[in-house]
Amino acid sequence: MTTRILGIESSCDETAAAVVADGRVILSSVVASQIDIHRKYGGVVPELASREHLRSIVPIVREALAQAGLALRDVDAFGVTCGPGLVGSLLVGLTYGKVLASSLGKPLVAVNHLEGHVHAVFLKAYRGGHQPELPAVCLIVSGGHTVLYEVSSRESAKPSGATVFVYRRIGQTRDDAAGEAYDKVAKLLAFGYPGGPVIDKLVAHAIEVGYDRSVPNPFGPTKLKGNPYDFSFSGIKTAVLYYVRAHPELHPEIERRQEAMARGERSVAGLLALSSPRTLALLAHFQRTVIAELVRRTIAAGDEIGARSALVSGGVAANAGLRAAFEQEAGQRDLPVFFPSRELSTDNAAMIAAAAFPKLLAGDLADATLDARPVLPLD
Ligand code: KG4
Ligand code: ZN
Repeated sequence: MTTRILGIESSCDETAAAVVADGRVILSSVVASQIDIHRKYGGVVPELASREHLRSIVPIVREALAQAGLALRDVDAFGVTCGPGLVGSLLVGLTYGKVLASSLGKPLVAVNHLEGHVHAVFLKAYRGGHQPELPAVCLIVSGGHTVLYEVSSRESAKPSGATVFVYRRIGQTRDDAAGEAYDKVAKLLAFGYPGGPVIDKLVAHAIEVGYDRSVPNPFGPTKLKGNPYDFSFSGIKTAVLYYVRAHPELHPEIERRQEAMARGERSVAGLLALSSPRTLALLAHFQRTVIAELVRRTIAAGDEIGARSALVSGGVAANAGLRAAFEQEAGQRDLPVFFPSRELSTDNAAMIAAAAFPKLLAGDLADATLDARPVLPLD
């Protein structure tokens, strides 16, 4: 018998709902992004985010059901993100999930958003007929998180004997998340919000046409005392700030891009035309430095724990350069590396429904007392 779980995600600035069968097959996945609302502020504004979630949650759930060809009564259980995230945003999805579950008399499963990102990798792997072997080293890298876990598994108590994942945190960022560094650098250089996708495309173009190699790399490797698997990205962001201050010849083009943004012109081709070779070289150095940090520490952590696979998830996992660098490094040491599809890299509800499935089998259910947890470690 198929188990259909309706997942709801509202931890940050995406209102999302999805239906997933048996934790593996996506029947529908609908994401309403609020990027256009937060763009003019250069980041997510919590009050606006919760208001927008309120507006979207009911139609998005309805749309997810329609796309799956199901009615509410066909859903076997509800999976909701309970944290970490913005409290006002979390509360919207969580409360709606609670109401649906209790009014229909169906089970409710609370899901940690980070565990959702892990399951996004498995959703894609299953679709390709693969099963990442455990233990795995898992990098979750997004606008809110940069964290490394060891993922292993255990059987839950009888009678279901469901396999559930077990997480051990190996390292994390001590300051900014990698996606946050992308967003802040994009803001500094006037490339709009969010910064990751546009910098990714600009750098891909710069590499393709050949960027100005005479521009020296202003970023050294990040040196950290203590845990070798921790990250730090605030120094890289500050280096960009100092670089811009030290190079006043960049200021007129930054102003021109700001004006273009204000006119709503944000196409990559348009931004390219407004970017000097020096700026493109700076972006290429920035991206290479961030990627090198992420790959180096993840691979080293994988070696340390004897990982049999590497999993990379979260918004920044959509980055083409990051994917290529991981493929290359992991390929050299026969470590299979798995990513979600691009759509499942950023926040979505299919990953929440998938993560809810083993918990449902294991009888790990939530009740009406479930509350939002803005800070919620996975281990
Ligand atoms: O997972 P996500 O949707 O939300 C959080 O949980 O944070 O990630 C969004 C973050 C943003 O910081 C965005 O700039 C970054 O992921 N991002 C990227 C790319 N696409 C999104 N960063 C680098 N390259 C990309 N292609
Ligand atoms: Zn996320």
